[in-house]
Amino acid sequence: MKNIYSNIFSFNRKILNKTIKYLKSERVVSLPTETVYGLAGNAYSKNSIKKIFMLKKRPNYNPLIIHYYSKSQAENDVIFNKNFSKLYKKFCPGPLTFILKKKKNSKIHSIACANLKTVAIRFPKHRIVRNILKRTNFPLAMPSANLSSKLSPVKALDVYEDFKKKIPLIINGGVSKIGIESTVIDLTHTPKILRPGIIDFKKIEKILKIKLKGKKFSSKIKSPGMLKKHYSPGIPVFLNQKYHDKKSAFIYIGKKYINRKSFFSLSEKYDLKEAASKLYITLRNIKKKGYRAIQIARIPLNGPGIAINDRIKRAAK
Ligand code: TXA
Ligand code: MG
Repeated sequence: MKNIYSNIFSFNRKILNKTIKYLKSERVVSLPTETVYGLAGNAYSKNSIKKIFMLKKRPNYNPLIIHYYSKSQAENDVIFNKNFSKLYKKFCPGPLTFILKKKKNSKIHSIACANLKTVAIRFPKHRIVRNILKRTNFPLAMPSANLSSKLSPVKALDVYEDFKKKIPLIINGGVSKIGIESTVIDLTHTPKILRPGIIDFKKIEKILKIKLKGKKFSSKIKSPGMLKKHYSPGIPVFLNQKYHDKKSAFIYIGKKYINRKSFFSLSEKYDLKEAASKLYITLRNIKKKGYRAIQIARIPLNGPGIAINDRIKRAAK
């Protein structure tokens, strides 16, 4: 039988070499990270960046995150500061993205940053992407590997669903553990969280020893690309639901409705981190089962709950 997923590969030395070869020749590939799967290209290459925007149908005003192996690889591209050093020491490699000022002689292609004077940088933790970053002499521009405004992928097959054979190589690195995108923090002035994530306000405040503003997270657009309609599962989503309407899928946390048809718990043991990691998988699963709408119960607004609320608000727009 013909293997229809012939562009999905397990990771081994041969695939590592092939991936590096592709990236060096300005092709775009999909890689697993601990947050979500990314669509990766050489951040110094205009061709690679253009391909990423085209494949995702991403508006050109929405800048990309640039991924590095470690701090020393980034020092020619961005201006570090004290807050960056503190957070880097505590959380990197990991699910945290920093907005920093771009250096004048930075080699990052300006269209990757939507012509801004700032750059978003991240040091991902997943073993596979680190293996690759260690062996390239350029950083990787890598947005989530989904079509613009759709749900981020947490496994290789999710990537395949959006792009089919339009990308030559998707590395299967299992299900992304964190399951939602990195926290984005702007460090170019008073630190400010632009996109909440698993590394939450409290954890960052503890390290920086300051109170962060804007904790009551609104869905106002703060990043240039933080489009309001985003993370859409493709069917209507209703928030803060109390009663099941008897036909929609119903998402909640806990085990109150366990084993009841159409009820989906994000975490039976009421763990918000687990709930965040199950969010996109559950939304996709519900859509595949053929439900026409999704009801979501109130999710507490603390810790990872802030990130969950941010994503479901956008999904409901
Ligand atoms: O977890 C993640 O961050 C994943 C994995 C693949 O690393 N990547 C990801 O990238 O979520 P993307 O492109 O889907 O989201 C990047 C976000 C966008 O909201 C964008 O507007 C914001 O980062 N961003 C990028 N550069 C920025 C900048 N210079 N200033 C403000 N926001 C920026
Ligand atoms: Mg994205």
